[in-house]
Amino acid sequence: MGPALVGVGVGPGDPGLLTLKAVSVLRGADRVFGPTMAVDAVGRAESIVRQAAPDVAVERLVFAIVEGDEARRAAHDLAAERVAACLDAGERVAFVTLGDPNIYSTFHHLAARVVARRPETTVETVPGICAFQDLASRSGMVLVDGVERLHLISAVDGPEALDVPLADPDAAIVVYKGGRHLPAVAGRLRAAQRLDGAVVGELLGLPGERVGLLEPAATGPAAYLATVLVPPQRPAEDATAPSRAPLSQDPPPSPVGERGRP
Ligand SMILES: C[S@@+](CC[C@H](N)C(=O)[O-])C[C@H]1O[C@@H](n2cnc3c(N)ncnc32)[C@H](O)[C@@H]1O
Repeated sequence: MGPALVGVGVGPGDPGLLTLKAVSVLRGADRVFGPTMAVDAVGRAESIVRQAAPDVAVERLVFAIVEGDEARRAAHDLAAERVAACLDAGERVAFVTLGDPNIYSTFHHLAARVVARRPETTVETVPGICAFQDLASRSGMVLVDGVERLHLISAVDGPEALDVPLADPDAAIVVYKGGRHLPAVAGRLRAAQRLDGAVVGELLGLPGERVGLLEPAATGPAAYLATVLVPPQRPAEDATAPSRAPLSQDPPPSPVGERGRP
């Protein structure tokens, strides 16, 4: 196997949701990078790897949330240079990312910068379990069935992002990056009569996790790592309706070694 850059999804937080393939690729890599805000801060993805595969060492790449495009670009360029240097040395390089590397991930920004420097770079990805899948499972929600559709949106700029999917009543809606706007997201859903059954999962699989119905939870902003699921409008007797009410007292993910260890 020649040098390659591999984006590896590590799931949303519970180390038990790291796939066998992800662990095997991480163990087989010459180097594993993980994103972080500061060189002395353990990133979320690194923390998941530490729990699921403590033998894998993660080198941090700083993707600082800094003011100004220039400073952000400079941090990303530095990270790309480091990765390119490892590829030049013939290494197989993995980069760990929360959830799936092809869904709203830093990975493809990094990969694009690396390829700009090294056009011969082979880029691969290993899929990961997404936060919305974990939340559907934890809250007992059948997301889509039959010919229903699924909209995955980012509400980072506000609840207006809901307008297009709300015009499609037979569709489920997944809202990412809307934690800051949680009360406004709930308000938009209430106005469209779609708040019933909507759930929110905050910090899934991570310390401080909360899972429950959106209605009582949306009293203030949630964390950036918050996901909202809105079920499709269905006839009351539809067998695909959620099989049970979401339980905010669901047990936390099993510690590594019980359910979590691959
Ligand atoms: C930059 S996107 C990353 C998505 C990720 N690549 C995926 O496949 O799920 C960040 C958004 O993903 C969702 N998310 C990721 N991890 C989460 C977690 N542990 N708990 C709740 N939401 C999460 C949140 O909506 C967050 O704002």
